[in-house]
Amino acid sequence: MGGDTQNDQTSAQANSQLYGVDRWGHGYFEVLENGDLAIKNPLLPNAPALSLPEILHDLQQRDVHVPMLLRVTGFLENEIRSINEAFLEAIKRVGYRNAYRGVFPIKVNQQAQVVERVVEYGRSYHYGLEAGSKPELVVALSQSLPKHSLIVCNGVKDAEFIRLATLSRKLGFNTVIVIESPREVDTVIEVCRDLDVEPLLGVRVKLTQKIGGNWAESSGDRSTFGLNTDQLVLILDKLRQAGLLHCLKLQHSHLGSQVPDVNDVRRAAIEACRYFTELTQEGAPLTHLDLGGGLGVDYTGEKKANENSINYSIGEYAANVVEIVRYAMDEAGIEHPVLVTESGRAVTATSSMLLFNVLEATLYDGPSCPGAEPDDHHLMVDLMAVEGYLAANRLQECWNDATFYRNEMRALFRRGTIGLRQMARAERVYLYLMSQIRSQAASDPQAGDLMEALKKEADIYHCNFSLFQSLPDVWAIDQLHPIMPLQRLNETPDRRAILADITCDSDGKVDRFILGDGVAPSLPVHSLEDDKPYYMGAFFVGAYQETLGDLHNLFGDTNVATIQLRDDGRFVLLHEQVGDTIAQVLSYVEYDPYDCLAAFRQRVDAAISDGELKASDRRELVGAYRDSIEGYTYYE
Ligand SMILES: Cc1ncc(COP(=O)(O)O)c(C=O)c1O
Repeated sequence: MGGDTQNDQTSAQANSQLYGVDRWGHGYFEVLENGDLAIKNPLLPNAPALSLPEILHDLQQRDVHVPMLLRVTGFLENEIRSINEAFLEAIKRVGYRNAYRGVFPIKVNQQAQVVERVVEYGRSYHYGLEAGSKPELVVALSQSLPKHSLIVCNGVKDAEFIRLATLSRKLGFNTVIVIESPREVDTVIEVCRDLDVEPLLGVRVKLTQKIGGNWAESSGDRSTFGLNTDQLVLILDKLRQAGLLHCLKLQHSHLGSQVPDVNDVRRAAIEACRYFTELTQEGAPLTHLDLGGGLGVDYTGEKKANENSINYSIGEYAANVVEIVRYAMDEAGIEHPVLVTESGRAVTATSSMLLFNVLEATLYDGPSCPGAEPDDHHLMVDLMAVEGYLAANRLQECWNDATFYRNEMRALFRRGTIGLRQMARAERVYLYLMSQIRSQAASDPQAGDLMEALKKEADIYHCNFSLFQSLPDVWAIDQLHPIMPLQRLNETPDRRAILADITCDSDGKVDRFILGDGVAPSLPVHSLEDDKPYYMGAFFVGAYQETLGDLHNLFGDTNVATIQLRDDGRFVLLHEQVGDTIAQVLSYVEYDPYDCLAAFRQRVDAAISDGELKASDRRELVGAYRDSIEGYTYYE
């Protein structure tokens, strides 16, 4: 095989470029010479990259199967370090006279394995948590947070929420109750009167600055969260009257998620500082300025201000925030506040990936042209004649003609003029012509536009995952995630495909892909080989996807494996979470699976009594039903 090495290396590099691995990979991925996609932990720069197909193979030996969510702890640790170090570095460089105390918003990924590790990796930075609901506060208070870290409570709060948050102060938690509405301040005052504890209070300010990207409409004036100037004044007065103004320590504002343009962050920070100055002058002894989430992820690697990319780095984000706050506070003669941000997406998105297998392919080409038959309709004869004038300068014309004749044949079939077999031959001729047009266009540098159009006429690769369960934002907001094959990357992909998921929903498909040269309507893939699995990965799914996913067609949570990469190029399986069984998903939608089993058994017994079934069939039938109930919801 020695002679292949050069080729393998060249193809691996070419495929790395084709899929844009170095562009979007954040340094976490590498294409190996053997054609495997591998992962590496930037915190272990000397460790060899570890092949994903090998990880899958190892996990499958341990009975952990695809589809699977793979969490890599080192990626999470690296992101937590990056954001905290970026702020520390900016604080030092700018001479900022206070600290950064980030909080992780639990809603972005509530899974225990994630939240516990966020706390662990953030410990030395006094990294805290943001809770947007009572259940999230309950999670936050169960964590052993370091002394100076914060728990920031956002969201709609009832008396119970406020009571628990306030009482938690007795245990030494720095739990801040952020007042979000005029109604909430009344409840805060009432609850605090009853308790012998000084609360830590915050106010959520509604900024007028708008942002670009997916959350543009919910930013600015029309944001559904936060207090406008009028409401702020009302709240200040109420707190003062209630003798609680001295507890108002934090000012919070959140711009929206995935802010594409760093100048939007800057403008928002300037406006937030104006509020901070005014509130301080009103007598609020503010000590913390919280700028919320919004730090984006460059999913496409384009480094551009658009929905799926950002035009800044974490370092630039931190530097801009620190510089702006320092300048504004110095100008107003106010002490530098503790800086807080609530980045979620940037912390967890890269840390997990969905790995799945391709089940089969519907191919959109024809290897050979069926022969003519004596009773062929004249449109069929016209369709077959296209091959006769297929030439480089007539490719578009040939495609137009083939499409026209094929569609006319379909119309004849619908009216009953031609039968199933002639229609099937017409479809095969059409696909054959498409293959010929595609292969001529591929070798013609002038055929760029045609080639782009042909990319849409791609195969369909049917894959073992549910878009609605595992990639809900792809469906809901056209989110792009890097997606690519995990193996054979030393071979040139010979086909293009869109991906269909396993649900029976026509929306369950992915038809926009991130490639090295931009976003494409189909993905380069390899022809499937009989009996050899073909695996793919969808990357950067660690933010929002897990809990936003739903049970469409009753496909449940996938298996989850949390791994740690080691210095010696091996990995440790730290945790395995078996995916939902059918019994579990049935119970989520109010069935008792064992009642279902009993009902099925009764049905079998009735059929035996009526003589429709042999008594000896009972074991097999009931056994098959029971096995299904206890099994995985995905294709096994
Ligand atoms: C109040 C608040 N803080 C933080 C976040 C996290 O935002 P991101 O994931 O963009 O960092 C959100 C999410 O929208 C939010 O509503």
